[in-house]
Amino acid sequence: MKGIKNIGILILSSACLQLSAQDAKMNTYVSNLMSRMTLEEKIGQLNLVTPGGGVATGAVVSQGVEDNIRKGLVGGLFGIYGPEKVRKAQDLAVKNSRLHIPLIFGLDVIHGHKTMFPIPLGLSCTWDTALIEKSARIAATEASADGLNWAFSPMVDIARDPRWGRISEGGGEDPYLGSLIAKAMVRGYQGNDLTKNNTIMACVKHFALYGAAEAGREYNTVDMSRIQMYQYYLPPYKAAVDAGVGSVMSSFNVVDGIPATANKWLLTDLLRKQWGFKGFVVSDYTSVNEMTAHGMGDLQTVSALALKAGLDMDMVGEGFLTTLKKSLSEGKITQANIDAACRRILEAKYKLGLFDDPYRYITEDRPAKEIMTDETRAAAREIASHSFVLLKNKNQVLPLKKSGTIALIGPLANNKRNMLGTWTIAGDFNKSVTIMEGIKNVASGITIKYAKGANITDDTTFAKHVNALGVEVETDAHTPQELLNEAVATANQSDVVVAVLGEAADMAGESSSRSDISLPESQQNLLKALVKTGKPVVLVLFNGRPLTLPWENANVPAILDVWFGGTEAGNAIADVLFGNYNPSGKLTTTFPQSVGQIPLYYNHKNTGRPYEENGPTKFKSDYLDISNDPVYPFGYGLSYTTFSYSDIHLNKSTIKPSETLSISTTVTNTGNYDGEETAQLYIQDVAASVTQPVKELKKFQKVFLHKGESKEVTFTLNVNDLKFYNSDLKMIYEPGQFNVFVGGNSRDVKQASFSLTAH
Ligand code: NOJ
Repeated sequence: MKGIKNIGILILSSACLQLSAQDAKMNTYVSNLMSRMTLEEKIGQLNLVTPGGGVATGAVVSQGVEDNIRKGLVGGLFGIYGPEKVRKAQDLAVKNSRLHIPLIFGLDVIHGHKTMFPIPLGLSCTWDTALIEKSARIAATEASADGLNWAFSPMVDIARDPRWGRISEGGGEDPYLGSLIAKAMVRGYQGNDLTKNNTIMACVKHFALYGAAEAGREYNTVDMSRIQMYQYYLPPYKAAVDAGVGSVMSSFNVVDGIPATANKWLLTDLLRKQWGFKGFVVSDYTSVNEMTAHGMGDLQTVSALALKAGLDMDMVGEGFLTTLKKSLSEGKITQANIDAACRRILEAKYKLGLFDDPYRYITEDRPAKEIMTDETRAAAREIASHSFVLLKNKNQVLPLKKSGTIALIGPLANNKRNMLGTWTIAGDFNKSVTIMEGIKNVASGITIKYAKGANITDDTTFAKHVNALGVEVETDAHTPQELLNEAVATANQSDVVVAVLGEAADMAGESSSRSDISLPESQQNLLKALVKTGKPVVLVLFNGRPLTLPWENANVPAILDVWFGGTEAGNAIADVLFGNYNPSGKLTTTFPQSVGQIPLYYNHKNTGRPYEENGPTKFKSDYLDISNDPVYPFGYGLSYTTFSYSDIHLNKSTIKPSETLSISTTVTNTGNYDGEETAQLYIQDVAASVTQPVKELKKFQKVFLHKGESKEVTFTLNVNDLKFYNSDLKMIYEPGQFNVFVGGNSRDVKQASFSLTAH
């Protein structure tokens, strides 16, 4: 035993030696290079620019950018991709600048590069970190084949407010699941060797707390206690750092009253000193400049503040480029501040292998071989089908039979433009599969009768806002009544109605907050008319956020939430509708009944006057006009089969801090289909020195069961799972009673208790 331990130590210490030898080599290289750099060239490395509004459509790089690259005044570019364009830009840096320092090339590769996967919120509903990692791996392969070496992803902002459009870009409301997803995505992008030409540097964002924007209003103020930050909001960023993420993007919002982009506590004390982050920090798009509007001073002042706080790279705004030299001469910043930032950017380039070969990501024949292949499309189809959440299935309307006549109704039923969702810079919606096409592919024997039925919205002002970057919401030449009449007639001629309704792609995403998160009125009218026909109606729902669906839940027999499923969404949706794949997704955000309940999240505190279901309401934490319940709770999602959980069995009723606890339950497939269940374990620390949530997700396991089959699922907890942040922000455990809950969602659970001793 002792021998094994020693070998372990030997291996570990030789790995450390190796690592430090590599670090030493990098330090020497970078120091040598920096000793030859002018002040202007050092500041130039801190400058990240985009040639032409994010996506270059005309010239590869605009004139100003070209000149600056030649002068060594640009550290990186984003917004261009494709080997030819990237090579041209890299040539400017490597062949024409004095020191030949290569550029890094970034892009918002968020849920795929060209083969698009479900939006991140959808991906999170797979609860499958292997699939999520696979999606990031494919995205990295495609992006690197297209000349890129840096992705502005993963976005891991915890969000409890579905009014906020960017809830679509993250992994939901839970810090534990969010942390696992953050790690999986970093692994997927970066692999275990960043110098490989198919791995790219990840950038975790938006650091920090962006998802807590007040009222869900985009770019709004954030204000929260440190305990709240540490326990709920910071863990996914920390997980990405622990997984070795190469870069971090600061967020637009304030943290403790200071914009994140110039927040020294955040960018230096927490990120580097406490968490040990070794990479570089980039601002968000002009977030340095925006500090003037925040009320922090003029461009020179805010640029100096940001640099001193620990920001290394300035995205687009050129505040660093245009003011740092002056600030240095006036003693407002030091040479050491500039050198530290410059060193981190150069280290990133070194780690990517760009000094060995600036063209390692630029191979002209890679795109044809590695982008949008049969394999990537098959993966997109598989992953999409796992992301869908079956919200309701009364009378087993689903799966559908592959015969008879289907009325396929709705503005999203045959609409390529809206298949991919938000952030699809390199994605081509023309290559996506619509639901109409998917149904034809999967169930060729059925008759499809199609009617659009409604515009996505009839509200032209709203449509204009949604269409700011391109027309996603079209107003039909027919009147709303004509569309509706046609749809009802079509429904009446069919056996079953599949209504494909929901949000347009850019109704969620950046700058897409909504105060009303119900289905647009035009579509509600359509749905009501379809339900009135008496035909069985299946609602296939496109959404980038939780929607308020109380009427739909009460009145529509079947609801399948498909988010924005990506390139292969149409095929994947058809796979699920016709039972080729039995849905297994589980929600990672709570679906409220009404916006008035927001924020509504499962891991809330109990309060001193807890809400009681069906209990007296006077002097309780509740509303006069509505219950506290969501329509669908966190962790919820049905299957075509049903699962039952036995009572929970604990191997001990009391554990010491040095011991582990086993919690087991038998899950049985009690329905008529084989299927996969995600068994979830939550705990509650009943009494602690800081109040704790009513439930916290601590573990989950996916279990595949044939119909009739049972399996025992065992979870293990140790003292680390029982810790929390105390008032001194120390992670501690306290002895006492804990409740443990196991079930298929956060609401419907079996419960048991155990105690933890002090020693
Ligand atoms: C602004 C967004 O907040 C961020 O997520 C994105 O990476 C940058 N723009 C670059 O496009």
